[in-house]
Amino acid sequence: MVLQVKSDYIHMQPSTLASATAQAPSNIAFVKYWGKTDHDLTLPQNPSISMSLDSLYTTTTVTFSDSYTQDEVWIAAPNEPSQQVTGTKATRVIQQLDRIRQLNSESRRAKVESVNNFPSGVGIASSASAFAALTLATTTALNMTLTPTELSRLTRLGGSGSATRSIFGGYVEWLTGDDQSSVAQQLFPESYWQLSDVIAIISTAEKKVSSLEGHELAETSPFYQTRLTDLPRRLKVVRHALEQRDITLLGAELEPEALSLHTVAMTCVPPVFYPMTETFWLLDELRAWSKEGVEVYGTMDAGPNVHCICQKSDAEKIKEKLNQLPYVQQVLVAHAGGGARIV
Ligand code: DP6
Repeated sequence: MVLQVKSDYIHMQPSTLASATAQAPSNIAFVKYWGKTDHDLTLPQNPSISMSLDSLYTTTTVTFSDSYTQDEVWIAAPNEPSQQVTGTKATRVIQQLDRIRQLNSESRRAKVESVNNFPSGVGIASSASAFAALTLATTTALNMTLTPTELSRLTRLGGSGSATRSIFGGYVEWLTGDDQSSVAQQLFPESYWQLSDVIAIISTAEKKVSSLEGHELAETSPFYQTRLTDLPRRLKVVRHALEQRDITLLGAELEPEALSLHTVAMTCVPPVFYPMTETFWLLDELRAWSKEGVEVYGTMDAGPNVHCICQKSDAEKIKEKLNQLPYVQQVLVAHAGGGARIV
């Protein structure tokens, strides 16, 4: 039997699908980004340095199709079903899709499905891994070939500055500059020095003031300029400590750096308090443990949880000690890891 194919069927365009899945790591900043010179372009006031984390990541699939009539954003927390998000969260994702679509004269709508393997909104930069994964998945789905540097610039434009660094693995610096030059670069690969981030979760509550608002308020603190004046020295020491693999030198900068950011935040108008009482109790403990011989140094991002930075060989010991503290709800262990990749 010969199949009769209707001519109008032959001329119909098939629904074209384009899809890619990317995975990107979270990162912990040793020298923190706080405040911008340009809010629209996400240009930072100061360079920042971070370590990409191997076991905390976001996996994002972006699918473009002719058959979609609107963009959809779905996010899943660990062990929970995926939920469609709307409002500001979805808008920020769709704006990044639009930015990339514009570069390609692309008109198809997309479905974004994102899964974090760690709780979001607890001071572990979930938007860093999310925006890095989103940018890599979207550009790959649209067949764009970008260098990691170009990718970090495009990620930066998504508005989560720390995501700029999550494109790279290991130890990463995000440079100040203009729209072209403010990109991330790898200082050392993860294999250069195996450090760990043992994260003590003190609270899983969503932070009341987003980093986005925190950056905008920074300049209202009388201590902000003092922070910026001291940062070139701190950056130099941290780069040198990484180069020398010197945990004592690095550690001496970590807690003061976090406290410098939080002093600024707490003295903004209106003030922003990210740490909790327990955060300070834990910093005291870490100082005592270091004196006893297990070197470990605390740092916090925009949240109450303490990232305990130590040599990989000490990570399990630190985890055990943290688990004995009644106010520590959960301990997550991550090591220096690779950058964003297609999976
Ligand atoms: C305190 O604007 O990158 O973590 O988008 O919420 O991840 P999110 O924040 P972002 O600011 C991050 C600020 C910081 C310090 C840092 O990671 O450098």
